Amino acid sequence: MRDYLNAVIIGCGSISVVHAAAINDSEFAKLYGVCDTDKSKLDAAVAKYGCKCYTSIEEVLEDENVDVVHICTPHYLHSSMLEASVKAGKKVVIEKPMTMNFDEYRHAYAVVKEYDGKVCNIIQNRFNPCIIKIKEMIESGKYGKILGLRGILTWKRDAKYYASGQWRGKWATEGGGVVINQALHTIDLLCYLGKKPKSVKATCDNRSLQGIIEVEDTAEAIIHMDEGVNALFYATNAYCRDSCYDLEVVMENAYLKYMFNNLYLIENGEMSLLESDKMEVCGKTCWGGGHKTVIGNFYSNLCGHGGEYTPFESAAEYIGVFDALYKSANSRKEEKVETL
Ligand SMILES: NC(=O)c1ccc[n+]([C@@H]2O[C@H](COP(=O)([O-])OP(=O)(O)OC[C@H]3O[C@@H](n4cnc5c(N)ncnc54)[C@H](O)[C@@H]3O)[C@@H](O)[C@H]2O)c1
Repeated sequence: MRDYLNAVIIGCGSISVVHAAAINDSEFAKLYGVCDTDKSKLDAAVAKYGCKCYTSIEEVLEDENVDVVHICTPHYLHSSMLEASVKAGKKVVIEKPMTMNFDEYRHAYAVVKEYDGKVCNIIQNRFNPCIIKIKEMIESGKYGKILGLRGILTWKRDAKYYASGQWRGKWATEGGGVVINQALHTIDLLCYLGKKPKSVKATCDNRSLQGIIEVEDTAEAIIHMDEGVNALFYATNAYCRDSCYDLEVVMENAYLKYMFNNLYLIENGEMSLLESDKMEVCGKTCWGGGHKTVIGNFYSNLCGHGGEYTPFESAAEYIGVFDALYKSANSRKEEKVETL
């Protein structure tokens, strides 16, 4: 009887290195294999990790020695790979977005329930020290009720970036642009820290990448939440660099401001530093350091040692919001956020 779980990473692209590092870091996980349909990517990963290799997910799912699969493939493959893995009895770590729209999510939910699937949804920023602190401060009620929030993300994704993967920049394979990909974490944090999202009114545009991508590079929205709370959202891939995302949470007696990777409390006009996100980062700085925590906690949990992770259900609100956001940008009307 093993006291660790065998993991296989499906998709050996840019995010796979962060998953491999998190697996290697966990005492409850072993990197057993890698899978990719692109031979050069697969060969490079096997040479790097010295583990087993698979050329298709079907081969991985047939292997009885595999306990956990990490789905690190393009967006359009997520829901079918998730469902096939759960049906095969594998535990799943899946990159964001868990699915490309709410219909797919609802379908996957039925499968996860039927097969009692164990799924970890990667929205790693919830595990950053500053976000943990904001959540604690809101829940303590010390500064009164939450009145509103805003989230801003200004990053750079140019023609070279979009040429780095055939699936990028297309509705059919990426499912959208800055909203479903880069700013998804911002949307998730607005929902996680705010109230239950009810409806969205939004606009999307392609400001700087016309002729290069068919999806939006810029979007803005108001997310109407329970208890009259509104979250304002702005995101663009048309900036000159990846700045640290910016969050503000306004409560009755103070407000919290997250910027430059620091969290500040502003109370009676005085600003004080509350927390800093000084985490070890593997991969791009803008991805943060949360993968290690959430993946480590998932394995610890599976092995009976506890640990907080983000399960299947944790994706419901961000998928509901981006789905409504895209519908609203098309209809030019306020659109309802779907729920399970
Ligand atoms: N959590 C984060 O902050 C974060 C950051 C970056 C990427 N991501 C997510 O990770 C996922 C992958 O992104 P990426 O940047 O690594 O993409 P990528 O294009 O660099 O890598 C995708 C890999 O999947 C492989 N692949 C494609 N079809 C396959 C199939 N049928 N079977 C097996 N492998 C297949 C490709 O050959 C490629 O190697 C996306 O969902 C993305 O949104 C998350």
